[in-house]
Amino acid sequence: SHTYDFVVAANRLPVDRVTGEDGNEEWRRSPGGLVTAMDAVMRGRDGAWVGWAGDPGEAPAPFDDAGMHLHPVPLSEQEIADYYEGHSNDTLWPVYHDVIITPTFKRSWRGAYRAVNKRFAQACADVAAEGATVWVHDYQLQLVPEMLRELRPDLRIGWFNHIPFPAVELFAQLPGREEILEGLLGADFLGFQRTEDAGNFLRAVRQYLDLDVTGDVVDLGDRAVRATAVPISIDTEGLRAVLDTDEVQARAREIREQLGNPDKILLGVDRLDYTKGIRHRLKAFGELLADGQLDPTKHKLIQVATPSRERVKAYMDLRDQVELTVGRINGDFSRIGATALTYMHQSFDRAEMAAMFAAADVMLVTPLRDGMNLVAKEYVTCCPADGALVLSEFTGAATELGEAYMCNPHDLTGLKQVIMKAITAPSDDREQRMSALRSTVSTATVQEWAKHYLAALQAAPARPEDEV
Ligand code: G6P
Repeated sequence: SHTYDFVVAANRLPVDRVTGEDGNEEWRRSPGGLVTAMDAVMRGRDGAWVGWAGDPGEAPAPFDDAGMHLHPVPLSEQEIADYYEGHSNDTLWPVYHDVIITPTFKRSWRGAYRAVNKRFAQACADVAAEGATVWVHDYQLQLVPEMLRELRPDLRIGWFNHIPFPAVELFAQLPGREEILEGLLGADFLGFQRTEDAGNFLRAVRQYLDLDVTGDVVDLGDRAVRATAVPISIDTEGLRAVLDTDEVQARAREIREQLGNPDKILLGVDRLDYTKGIRHRLKAFGELLADGQLDPTKHKLIQVATPSRERVKAYMDLRDQVELTVGRINGDFSRIGATALTYMHQSFDRAEMAAMFAAADVMLVTPLRDGMNLVAKEYVTCCPADGALVLSEFTGAATELGEAYMCNPHDLTGLKQVIMKAITAPSDDREQRMSALRSTVSTATVQEWAKHYLAALQAAPARPEDEV
């Protein structure tokens, strides 16, 4: 069968196989920042994407779509529970996001994680041509680099972490910590969102594997691995093309009208995840209404919470808490025909999202911890010239988007002040900040990110001597 010079491996394919209302099978775009970014990178490259189709049981046959080859990897019901919902999303996800919730450690989950990583490594080995480049993604597949190198020493292997890499004191909690570090060091090059994330990884390597680290290079004796920050971005041009259609422009105006042409539209857009600070944001909004600093007839908040990981307990609990808070705010402040807060537990296509961004005066991005947060960059690309971005300092995006209205979401009083500042700032202050943010996001695109990453991967393996 056909093999490829460029292979991407991620837990999910860019599309999910779902059963539609009519009982027929259909494909839908998968959720999350990874897919948003990598889909744009892969289009038309004639590469292969190895990933799960999002449903249990037998995998669909490999197929071609949007100028790429999709190679599905099957997961059983049990593996979805143990590898995906368990070890990936109830152990690694909370540990890597600074234990915002208490992680669960289960020995049986680790076995499933290993087995599924092995299957991904084998699938990559099957589709990769001699000497191909294989780019492995994210925390679900941290053992793949080493497993793949064992199967195919001819390949050039990169890994990129879309989420944070935790401080060594938190990483220390993981029962499988050495195994993960060794798994990753099977790659030639490791990319992280922030310099701090790469630094955390290198410190863990020093501490738990007792290897020499010089600058950002780990010396393995016979070879070396570089670990550094390559912050991800969005397909700015592609998104602008969606935004610049008559339909999206008309829809943006319609959204404003449907909300009764308020003075200010505030917007939050997140996967429904406890890392995103949705509860903190709603609490701030509710208190600002209660204080009378905001007026429910003039200031409207739209909160989109995309359904995510709905069978994991922490996500069910979060949904209950968020919906209770939404209900209380609307109960206290809504009028007939005019709700204070529009909450949607739904996912929307890119056109509808672009219209919401274009309609919003103030974007609230308030995560407690986030690897990057591409929504912040999407807003900057689509918003009005005097749009205001409120951005948590605990996002990767904060490193690049310093002109945003920065907040600490844990500090509720401070968060309320920053939101009010963004709402009441003179329009030339907002415009100046936004124009600086725009020039950042229009040059640091996802295409540039991929170019930069792949160049660094090609230049690997670096020898420690080269660095001095
Ligand atoms: C984040 C992760 C991705 C993940 C996405 C959606 O962006 O970094 O790896 O795909 O969330 O989450 P899900 O569990 O639905 O794949």
